[in-house]
Amino acid sequence: MVGHRMALIYLDNQSTTRCDPRVLQAMLPWFSEHYGNAAARSHALGMRARGAIERARAQIARWVGASPKEVILTSGATEANNLAVLGVARAALRTTTAGRPPPHVVTVATEHPAVLDPVEALRREGVDVTVLGVDADGLVDPDDVQRALRPTTVLVSVMRVNNEIGVVQPLHAIVERCRAQGVAVHTDAAQASLVPVDMSALDVDLVSVSAHKIYGPKGVGALVVRRRRPRIALEPLLHGGGHERGLRSGTLPVPLVVGLGEAAQLLTEAQEREAASVVLLRDQLLAGLREQVGGIRVNGSLQHRAPNNLNVSFDGVEAAALLVALRDIVCLSTGSACSSESQRPSHVLDALGMPGDRIGRSVRFGLGRFTTEHDITTTLDAIAQKVGQLRSMASLYET
Ligand SMILES: Cc1ncc(COP(=O)(O)O)c(C=O)c1O
Repeated sequence: MVGHRMALIYLDNQSTTRCDPRVLQAMLPWFSEHYGNAAARSHALGMRARGAIERARAQIARWVGASPKEVILTSGATEANNLAVLGVARAALRTTTAGRPPPHVVTVATEHPAVLDPVEALRREGVDVTVLGVDADGLVDPDDVQRALRPTTVLVSVMRVNNEIGVVQPLHAIVERCRAQGVAVHTDAAQASLVPVDMSALDVDLVSVSAHKIYGPKGVGALVVRRRRPRIALEPLLHGGGHERGLRSGTLPVPLVVGLGEAAQLLTEAQEREAASVVLLRDQLLAGLREQVGGIRVNGSLQHRAPNNLNVSFDGVEAAALLVALRDIVCLSTGSACSSESQRPSHVLDALGMPGDRIGRSVRFGLGRFTTEHDITTTLDAIAQKVGQLRSMASLYET
């Protein structure tokens, strides 16, 4: 028997986004119609594929305020972050003369594991590492960054938007301090779907982006590296056919790159408008949680936050139990997909100094392009009901 199923509401857009149907349409011909290898220069299908790659590269460059030559295509933001962090530090390590102190990199405790783990790998390779803390709002103090800088510092990596609490770091002030000392700045902009990532305006040197966070396909992204003097030296992670100017060997996935380009183009056109409408829905959600549910606390700065994120803890309710109760109604998560998989408590909320029990009561709401007002009102009704049930069960249990 086919049961009547209510459409699932999707509020996990920081984990991944639905591929926009317009992006999918743009990708389709590049699978089995125009299937040439973009590196094949000897025939028409190869040239056509190369043309598509270069169009997409220009779309990506326009989105991040860079030039197409500065775009290195990767498999996603994980690879882009690894290439930035490992690439810069290893290139510096290679040119460090014996007896001299090793290069130094600075990052922040709330970064994504795709930055923190390569930084730890560097520590094992002999690179000096500083991981800065954040305040109770999740913000890093630019003066702490300045104080951490040394004559040997080669890179500061601070994310644009946090994936769990949506906090937007004071990147301008951080860059200013690094510029004064000639230190390169990398920003992981994977979550910057509704916050501008104009590299010229931000004056950053390296930016990581990912298609599946901006309504494009999974498995493709880019590291954009500013061409400046002195040039930023990067040690490649992959060696092979010399693609992407020798910095990222491997046959380019033409349909995916076309998808990233189209997604970037759509975002460039719609970002401001989408940010303005999503923030209204997010504020409606927060007001509803306060009025209909009560006993909630917002995690991370509300003021310095991307419009599409809300992270709250529910007094007296385990997040895991709430998500199970809601799972056939609304898709939500407790934090990053990676930490959910490893069942580790959120390192981000931990860095804010939150006690373990409050971390365990925290839920992330990720709104997006396809979120409707009806989604928000239905979610609020469902949460009010389930939280009420869980709280009364807990008080019954206590008595
Ligand atoms: C801030 C941030 N950086 C990096 C990544 C990894 O991106 P990708 O899935 O493209 O490797 C994610 C994805 O969860 C993210 O949220």
